[in-house]
Amino acid sequence: MLKEIEKRRSIRKFNKEAVKQETLEVLLRSAMQAPTAMNKQTWRFLVLQRREDLDVLPSLHPYANMMKSAGAAIIVMGDRTLNSDPYLYCDASAAIMNILLEATHLGLGSCWCAIAPSKERIDAFSNYFALSKELLPIAVIALGEGMESKGFEDRYDPAKVQWR
Ligand SMILES: Cc1cc2nc3c(=O)[nH]c(=O)nc-3n(C[C@H](O)[C@H](O)[C@H](O)COP(=O)(O)O)c2cc1C
Repeated sequence: MLKEIEKRRSIRKFNKEAVKQETLEVLLRSAMQAPTAMNKQTWRFLVLQRREDLDVLPSLHPYANMMKSAGAAIIVMGDRTLNSDPYLYCDASAAIMNILLEATHLGLGSCWCAIAPSKERIDAFSNYFALSKELLPIAVIALGEGMESKGFEDRYDPAKVQWR
């Protein structure tokens, strides 16, 4: 198994240190190497670096308290003019996973927080960040230097697999 897959865990305590611009660019490059349905590359990204934007996120999302200590966050969105919502979710999820694994590789902590399909959260993010109508905010990823460490949890469950 890839070391990054073994090591990646959801980190919810950070030290508030800003994440370097170059590091954020590496994460975005990794995101955009992800596969997308019909190679439509439907994802769009809004990178949050300002403390005031990070601090406001828990008021837009009930399970994003970790943002108060994060060093950056990336909102992953899908362009509704390019594909239907189920494909936007699939495309975004693959890109999100690349970000989480690249962050782990770079020694950063991360946490995936879903926005869609909650209408309340979609509206809250769309309004606060004045997103254009075509963009569906799908998730927001907390990033930063982790202040908690979690070990490998073996989740392999043969009962979930059918062979034939
Ligand atoms: C679609 C999705 C939505 C999630 N939303 C949240 C969230 O809103 N807040 C949060 O703290 N964690 C969220 N998580 C993280 C999960 O809670 C976490 O991945 C799960 O508990 C397994 O732990 P691990 O990531 O450390 O392996 C989400 C994960 C996924 C895949």
